[in-house]
Amino acid sequence: MGLAPSGLPPSYNSFLNMQTLRLSAMDNGSIEQSAGIIRAGGLVAFPTETVYGLGANALDEVAVKKIFMAKDRPAWDPMIVHVSSRKMLESVVARPPAQFDRLFGDFMPGPLTLVLPKQATVPDVVTAGRATVAVRFPAHPVAQRLIAASGLPVAAPSANRFGRVSPTTAEHALADLDGKIDAILDGGRCRIGVESTVLDLSTATPLILRQGAVTREQLQLALGQVAVADSADLSRPQEGLPSPGMMLRHYAPRTKLVLTDGRERTLIAAVQERPKQKVGALLPSGWNIRAAASFDWGRWGDWPTLASRLYAGLRWLDEKKLDLIIAPLPSEEGLGRAIRERLLKASGREMSLAGRSR
Ligand code: TXA
Ligand code: MG
Repeated sequence: MGLAPSGLPPSYNSFLNMQTLRLSAMDNGSIEQSAGIIRAGGLVAFPTETVYGLGANALDEVAVKKIFMAKDRPAWDPMIVHVSSRKMLESVVARPPAQFDRLFGDFMPGPLTLVLPKQATVPDVVTAGRATVAVRFPAHPVAQRLIAASGLPVAAPSANRFGRVSPTTAEHALADLDGKIDAILDGGRCRIGVESTVLDLSTATPLILRQGAVTREQLQLALGQVAVADSADLSRPQEGLPSPGMMLRHYAPRTKLVLTDGRERTLIAAVQERPKQKVGALLPSGWNIRAAASFDWGRWGDWPTLASRLYAGLRWLDEKKLDLIIAPLPSEEGLGRAIRERLLKASGREMSLAGRSR
């Protein structure tokens, strides 16, 4: 799904085959150096508490177009603008609604992205021409310091190739983007491991577009009624979805992914049903199966741990040249919801099947 954004300078071609600078967030000067690259219109991958982001100056149209190129992301998919203060947030949004104060006080900085009416200063390329902009104030100290040192709002999607599994380590981001970005700021593993909750405040009832570590229950406590967007309506073209990132196959490994319900015996049956296939599993600790490869996922029911290891597991299994990856689906509680949503999208919704008496 290549796209060729227009209006890029001729020097731009060389950017797709560049030396990517590896910087450690622990090293003196690395944040300043990264901020300098952002100010100069370059691309820097950086850690947040959710996943790594691929950042550029959100107010520089050409810089933002480079993100689309590096990720091979279609121009209709808008990106999140990251800020390091309330003041910076207010410089990109127009007329924040009444609920904004409460949300800011309760959840920011943190893993919550708000979709709000945008200011004219935000270029259309960032928002895919929408009248709204998605904004997030990350809690990760490295992300905060980078944005503050840049002195600019930073547009940043997850630092992976479009449609693929989001990166939770610097190595993951480099596996997808080495040679396509100016620098990566290594800040170790991301604590949460799944992307931020996206909440649309531009609708009459606040609408969750993507589930994440800030849960519907928490948002309801703060706001009253909160709806969840139904990503199941896939008959509509992607461009028309409330959040384009809600597309069907997304967050996906290359290997086919099949899901089972959350019981050990269903997973075992699903593997046994496929004796001729090379099957790998995202395996809850202590569950007993014989598979060609199993990734020790963490204790079943410990959703925060399972969320933090989800993408590392999918990426690891994807390297094993398997015919199939099998994973059990968490229940709809807490972060289990976010994991479910990602797994369903990664599987293209082949809600299996697997091991069920059919
Ligand atoms: O945790 C995160 O949110 C990470 C880190 C880097 O902050 N970022 C991230 O960005 O996941 P990205 O681009 O991979 O996902 C942003 C999602 C997409 O599904 C996009 O369609 C949606 O937010 N989005 C962005 N702007 C929007 C808008 N104006 N209206 C509706 N959806 C929007
Ligand atoms: Mg993404």
